[in-house]
Amino acid sequence: MTGFPIFAVRSLLRSAAFTSLTCSVVALPGLAQEPQKMLLVGVDHRVVTSLNGDWHYLVDQPPARGLYAAGGKVRDNGYAMNTHPNISSGPHNEEYDFATAPTLKVPGDWNTQEPTLFRYEGVVWYQRDFDFRPKAGTRTFLHIGAANYKSFVWVNQKRICDHEGGFTPFDCDVTAALKPGTNFVVIAVDSTRDVDGIPSVGIDWFNYGGLTRDVSLVTVPKMFVDDYDVHLKHESSFSAANATTLAGYVHVEGASAGTSVTLRIPEAGIDTTIKTDAEGKASFEVKAKQLTLWSPAQPKLYKVELSTGDDRLTDDIGFRDIRVEGTRILLNGKSIFLQGANMHAEAPYRGGRAYSDEDVKNIFGFLKDLNANFVRLCHYPHDERMEREADREGVMVWSEIPVWQRISYEKPEVYAKATRMVGEMIRRDRNKASVIMWSVSNETPNNPTRTEFLTNLANEARRLDPTRPITSALIGPRPKGNEMVQDDPLMKALDVVGQNQYIGWYEGRPEDADTIHWTFPEKPILMSEFGAEAKYGNHGGKSDRWAEEQQVNVYEHQFAMIQRIPQVRGLIPWVLMDFRSPTRNIPKLQDGYNRKGLISEDGKKKLAFEQFQKVYKEHSVGKAE
Ligand code: GCU
Repeated sequence: MTGFPIFAVRSLLRSAAFTSLTCSVVALPGLAQEPQKMLLVGVDHRVVTSLNGDWHYLVDQPPARGLYAAGGKVRDNGYAMNTHPNISSGPHNEEYDFATAPTLKVPGDWNTQEPTLFRYEGVVWYQRDFDFRPKAGTRTFLHIGAANYKSFVWVNQKRICDHEGGFTPFDCDVTAALKPGTNFVVIAVDSTRDVDGIPSVGIDWFNYGGLTRDVSLVTVPKMFVDDYDVHLKHESSFSAANATTLAGYVHVEGASAGTSVTLRIPEAGIDTTIKTDAEGKASFEVKAKQLTLWSPAQPKLYKVELSTGDDRLTDDIGFRDIRVEGTRILLNGKSIFLQGANMHAEAPYRGGRAYSDEDVKNIFGFLKDLNANFVRLCHYPHDERMEREADREGVMVWSEIPVWQRISYEKPEVYAKATRMVGEMIRRDRNKASVIMWSVSNETPNNPTRTEFLTNLANEARRLDPTRPITSALIGPRPKGNEMVQDDPLMKALDVVGQNQYIGWYEGRPEDADTIHWTFPEKPILMSEFGAEAKYGNHGGKSDRWAEEQQVNVYEHQFAMIQRIPQVRGLIPWVLMDFRSPTRNIPKLQDGYNRKGLISEDGKKKLAFEQFQKVYKEHSVGKAE
């Protein structure tokens, strides 16, 4: 089978399949309230009141009348009221009662907690009480690490905020709604797929719903630090000798012009006071007495202390320089080769959305075992714990928003969502030294509407953070004989180009890779996805699809092909671990899992894991320059 023509066919097939098969498409109502301005940076370094634990839940199946009125408008007088039915004499409320309802753990997806909700995509209501003692001169925010996909928040029956996007945090000011004593919060989470959503309706990962990451109350003084950026100044060229200037800003919410902010980094000999401008922003450039730059070999993090008025905040930040020069990726001025893996935010062993320290430890344990220095967190921002661990462990990170294959590129409101998601991703993780590039999309159809959308989005990311390369994972091109000329116009907007290809699995035979000649522009190229499916424990010949030996064989031919592409600066096999996907339904082989992992979902290493472990140990595939 000479599979080449299959290139273009694959993406068409898969998206058509997704659109028709996997879900009921409804146009969800527009959010009632302006998107959140508030995303508190460094919340995980603040003292908070955790609201994690058992929350009562109620399932509000389509058309979800507890939440949406006919026509889709969000109701404030439905389940959000948290009233109780008068069982004995009536009249009932709308016949719901959180107080006697079962509970779900937060954080966590509902799908793997309650068997009846395993394949449920729709609205689930969460409710819990909490005690609160208001403190004068403070504001209190409800911090939600992530909730998939749309969420609507009420406190004490008062509508507080809405949010769209399953993988980035948001903070809602609940100060005015709180009272001394017992309070309650009600959150409706709607995981229904939306054709105008990001991602849209077709995805190759499990659509876990719920309050999937930490929820807490954050009380801060009226004037407080809500955002900051402390990084090694990104000069036009890098010189190790001069790499001692830190630059950035501290934004103080509620501050008037001229408000003092103290920036202290004791280990770097920095102790300086800066002043805010009329917008509450205090920008700075300050020289460190000495600075050890962050790198995989030396993931040095500095204790950074910020204080203004009554507010104090610390963070652990590494300082490093990352840039592109020609086809090279330079970390602190040195060419690097990225030896990585793709990873979905799925918990090894127990399954479900990954959110805990244990999940993160397990995942980084596999990456360390693999001798990896890089991980692509796909296709959406993962729990902040991942970047924190990457900072500590010296693992470089590709972070991405879920513009996955087809979305409604033609709709301005969808572009607005994408810019907000890029903004949230960058705001949460801009101070993470481990994050070395932002990705705006994965495998998107090469047409002018999409290219304009993503070019603008790439420039928006670059505007928000001019210190990191911008990337995206491309698909195609159409092969001409053995010639693969990647000429996707989106590359003009990218600093680093990711190339996804599945020669040997979706396209052709493994050995076809031996004769393929790739043409790429003079930019760093990352093989951002390549691989094949193999069921752990399934053994056979090297051409026996689904056998571990076949997966190894596909990679052997890939390595030879990649060695012939001078611009390749990194390997990112698809995928570190088998993961759940609703479209992978070949019994006994897939059983609801994408089986392209180097390890199985329960951590069993396939032969291909050892193959990469050896290649990465010996640095035997690819060159940094
Ligand atoms: C794509 C896509 C992944 C998907 C993979 C696969 O390249 O980016 O999300 O899981 O192919 O088909 O296994």
